[in-house]
Amino acid sequence: MKIALASDHAGYELKEGVRAFLENKGIACLDCGCGPGETVDYVDYGIRAMESMGSGECDRAILFCGTGLGMAIVANKFRGIRAAACWNLHTAEISRKHNDCNCLCLGGRVLELAEALGIVEAWLNARFEGGRHERRVDKIIDLEKKNFG
Ligand code: RB5
Repeated sequence: MKIALASDHAGYELKEGVRAFLENKGIACLDCGCGPGETVDYVDYGIRAMESMGSGECDRAILFCGTGLGMAIVANKFRGIRAAACWNLHTAEISRKHNDCNCLCLGGRVLELAEALGIVEAWLNARFEGGRHERRVDKIIDLEKKNFG
């Protein structure tokens, strides 16, 4: 599994902390920026990460901005992406178990690093439960096809 990481300035510190955590576990990461000391638009960096998923280079993404919300809005514009802004262990687990979320969005201005690492761990460990949830996710995929071709 390879995970795309991207942030704006508000999520930069959290991105760096999560990147170190993942690399320490031996999980490959693609750092799509931003770099230190920059003030940037989260949209541009979210796009980079989503393109790396669209090309097949990365299987999942973790995006960071001030709240996680802007990045989730950007990511959900891309085909096949189910992005969720999560703020605790429960939302992270359910985003995987029920929504088959493939893009976790975290807020650098709302989470401490220790909280974020717990969320990332829970998100990585939780598995999609399928069953009735698969039917619902399939409806989302159909909706995407109907609306965007
Ligand atoms: C940047 O100031 C902030 O607006 C951004 O990081 C994010 O919170 C947007 O959703």
